[in-house]
Amino acid sequence: MVKVTVAGAAGGIGQPLSLLLKLNPLVTELALYDIVNAHGVAADLSHINTPAVVTGHQPSGKEDNSAITAALKNTDLVVIPAGVPRKPGMTRADLFNINASIVRDLVANIARTAPNAAILIISNPVNSTVPIAAEVLKKLGVFNPRKLFGVTTLDVVRAETFLGGLLDVDPSKLRGKISVVGGHSGDTIVPLINYDSEISNKAKSRLSTSDYEKFVNRVQFGGDEVVKAKNGAGSATLSMALAGYRFAENILESLNGRNQPVLIPDSAYIYLPGIPYGKIFSDKHLNGVEFFSVPVRLQNGRIESFIDPFEGLVKTDEEQKLIEVALKGLTGSIKQGTEFVKGSK
Ligand code: APR
Repeated sequence: MVKVTVAGAAGGIGQPLSLLLKLNPLVTELALYDIVNAHGVAADLSHINTPAVVTGHQPSGKEDNSAITAALKNTDLVVIPAGVPRKPGMTRADLFNINASIVRDLVANIARTAPNAAILIISNPVNSTVPIAAEVLKKLGVFNPRKLFGVTTLDVVRAETFLGGLLDVDPSKLRGKISVVGGHSGDTIVPLINYDSEISNKAKSRLSTSDYEKFVNRVQFGGDEVVKAKNGAGSATLSMALAGYRFAENILESLNGRNQPVLIPDSAYIYLPGIPYGKIFSDKHLNGVEFFSVPVRLQNGRIESFIDPFEGLVKTDEEQKLIEVALKGLTGSIKQGTEFVKGSK
């Protein structure tokens, strides 16, 4: 029995993400929460012939907490793509002012109604919204760092696709062979292509320095290509839904799971000091930056441990430099998120 809640389920990401979750046979209940059209999307998806029972939850006004409470009751996993998307000229950081309060309020509800659920945050800027969530959960005394994830999987998906194109290999075969660490915005994103010797050898022999630089830049700023092409209609939705689902599926499989820790082929943006070895890792390699995306091992819907990228994945001076740049950007974004909650009532 696994219940999954999607908060922001009627949006550009929320709808295709909910569709993918409805197709997953491990999901027994899918609760769709949104401030608009939640019942419509739920009715539509409920006609699909898979086991998950779909329910829609929409508040009748600002003060109505009953819909979110029903959506969250007994849930195992909450995925949050609620918020506003980016328009041309906006950075993910520009979204901060609107999405920060949406995430803060949703997470406060999760803390009250479903304190043991795993939480996957998609709402941008993830570099700040995850620290916001952590701070809210801490404030309400229910923070479990092993169950809070910023979804950075789209960066991994893009890296696989773009590298596959450059090396002329099927990008789906690159799953688990490339890692992306750091944050989830511009130059805080750090792709590492040295995960696998066969691929790295191919990359070394095929990629010129300028191709490598273009690859890194495209992974870091791939989101802007979509924002520009959509020309005012928003940011990545379908690729983001797939990436969010890919991460959710990892959690579902670990919940279903044989009680064994499973190394998943994706990273997640997590609060390191709450994970074994995380504090030492953060002090040693990250100048004390506490949130960072790293490859994780999951067990029973929570982080069992993470892979230290500096023990084998970060190999070149270029990669080391990219991480230093990422850390500068992350420091400010994390502080902005944490202080937002500290300054809230
Ligand atoms: N509670 C629940 N849902 C909300 C709330 C809220 N407080 N506020 C907004 N929403 C819903 C909207 O009603 C909408 O259905 O969130 C959904 C957002 O959908 P879109 O506007 O289509 O945005 P989308 O492209 O899906 O992006 C959402 O994910 O990747 C990030 O940067 C992106 O932050 C943005 C978010």
